[in-house]
Amino acid sequence: MSRFTLPPLGYPFDALEPNIDERTMRIHYLKHHQTYINHLNAALERHPELMEKSLTELLSDLRAIPEDIRTDVRNNGGGHYNHSLLWKILTPGGSNRPVGLLKQAIDRELNGYDSFRAVFSRAAAEQFGSGWAWLVVDEDDRLQVTRMANQDNPVMVGKTPILGIDVWEHAYYLKYQNRRAEYIDHFIPLINWDVVAGKYEQVLKQFS
Ligand SMILES: [Fe+2]
Repeated sequence: MSRFTLPPLGYPFDALEPNIDERTMRIHYLKHHQTYINHLNAALERHPELMEKSLTELLSDLRAIPEDIRTDVRNNGGGHYNHSLLWKILTPGGSNRPVGLLKQAIDRELNGYDSFRAVFSRAAAEQFGSGWAWLVVDEDDRLQVTRMANQDNPVMVGKTPILGIDVWEHAYYLKYQNRRAEYIDHFIPLINWDVVAGKYEQVLKQFS
C-alpha cells in the first residue's frame, strides 16, 4: 500500500473560477500533486524504515534522510506538503480578510492587512523561477513573510507555514501566461482566512 495518498480537494475543480480556471485545477491537482506523491512513495519504498514518520518529521530533519533519497524526499515530500496546504487555504467562500488572533497578529507584527498583502504579493512576484511565497510562524511565534525556491518548505528551516502561494508556472500559465502579478492579484481574494487563522491558533497552542 502506498504510504501517502492524494488528499480530497474539498470543492469542485471549477469552484475557484474565474480566478483559477478549471483546467489548471484539474491538471495541478490530478497530475502535478499526484506525481509528487508517487515519487515520494517510490523513494520511501527504498527505505521502509522511514515509513512510520510523518511528512513534517521527514521534512523538518532532511539531514536524517539517507543521502540516496534525500533530494527526492525534499522535492517530492515538499511538493506533497505544499500542495496539500494550498488546496486547504483556497475556497470559494470563507472570510476574505484575516480574523481573530491572526488579524491581531497581522496588525501588530506586519503593520496590518494592506501592508501584509503588499509584502506577500511582492515576495510572490520576486521569487525568481519556480517556488512559493509563504506566511509563516517563526521560532518565536512571530509572523513572517518569506519565499523559497522549488518545493522547499518552511518546516525545513524550523518555521511553520500557515499560508502559501504557488508561483510555479504550472499554477497559472494556462490562464495568465507570463502575467504572474495578475495571477497573484486574483489568488489573494480566494484565501480562506478562517482556515489560515485556525492554523495560526493551532501553531500557538502547539508551542505554548
Ligand atoms: Fe504546484
